[in-house]
Amino acid sequence: MISVGLIGGTGYTGKYLIKFLHRHTFVEDFSVYANRSSGKYLNELFPEFSGIIENKKIENIMNLSDKHDVYFLALPHGESVKYVPSLIEQNKKVIDLGGDFRLDDKELYDTWYGFKHSVPELLLKKTYGLADISGYGKNVSNLVANPGCYPTSVLLALIPFVKSFSEFINGICIVSYSGTSGAGRTAKEELLLSEMDGNVKAYNVNKHRHYPEIKQELMKYGFDSYLNFTTHLLPVERGIYTTISIHLSQSIPAKNISDVYFDEYSKSGFVRIRNKPPELKWVVNTNFCDINISVNENTAIITSAIDNLIKGASGQAIQNMNKMFGWDEALSILC
Ligand SMILES: NC(=O)c1ccc[n+]([C@@H]2O[C@H](COP(=O)([O-])OP(=O)(O)OC[C@H]3O[C@@H](n4cnc5c(N)ncnc54)[C@H](OP(=O)(O)O)[C@@H]3O)[C@@H](O)[C@H]2O)c1
Repeated sequence: MISVGLIGGTGYTGKYLIKFLHRHTFVEDFSVYANRSSGKYLNELFPEFSGIIENKKIENIMNLSDKHDVYFLALPHGESVKYVPSLIEQNKKVIDLGGDFRLDDKELYDTWYGFKHSVPELLLKKTYGLADISGYGKNVSNLVANPGCYPTSVLLALIPFVKSFSEFINGICIVSYSGTSGAGRTAKEELLLSEMDGNVKAYNVNKHRHYPEIKQELMKYGFDSYLNFTTHLLPVERGIYTTISIHLSQSIPAKNISDVYFDEYSKSGFVRIRNKPPELKWVVNTNFCDINISVNENTAIITSAIDNLIKGASGQAIQNMNKMFGWDEALSILC
């Protein structure tokens, strides 16, 4: 049995971490830490937990205890770097849901996140926690950088293809759509219901910080051509839908491509290969990623759908903890 510290547990992703930790067979106790909401009871912030989790007070992050075995951090970018080094020094297991440790190259933090990375040595020690990729889970480091929500939807859909056919790829265009919860709980005018209802818009065009993360991971599997990535906001609370167009130098038989996907995910309980393009409704509120592949002459179109708060954040984070301890990866997240 383990004890868990959840730092930044009062946000959108934190709420699902609480839900999964509360019902996890091997989690004996957990504490929630935050800044502004410290001192309140959990049920004041999340009335949906009434009758399920009672009398749990949110601790102030200044009083972070060292009693926990595992720490999840669900903080705004630039905050996790303040806590992770000392937790790693104390030999704790750490899973960071933010972007502070996802990139390998410290210089990229200046460009894409706007801060100088203070512990670049940890960037190279971490494990990038894309939990469903085959072979993942054998040598997981004590520091897991949980992938971004868009990168999860893109990489699960693309890595099998890139692994097997990178020499035939001329270029890749990625178009992704997200529900508004992807931006977290802090109020933002452009995300008001009256702004987003009945609306769709592209944002951060050519400058989304998930672009270098996607490129970094694809390059590890041999990708070396052109890539673009455009993100859009959807008028829904949650879910990410991604459509990827792969431009090929020659056609590849559809059967060869689907064999590669079935092979890659044969041991994953959370990636489902579909025979038609997935729908958001099939995956919202679950830890599944649904993928469809279609080929026509020199173009392959891959579509994928995930829940940004679960597969793209808290569900995958719990899956990573399960893998770190060698437990069944589906413990507490099969919903
Ligand atoms: N939302 C998604 O779909 C999603 C998906 C994947 C990854 N992520 C990443 O996961 C992280 C958390 O995202 P979220 O959507 O849950 O954010 P959020 O809803 O804005 O919640 C942020 C949490 O951090 C706490 N916090 C903020 N500033 C703090 C500080 N200085 N010290 C201590 N605690 C502080 C907040 O609590 P108080 O306000 O009480 O201080 C709250 O608990 C982010 O890095 C985000 O990029 C989010």
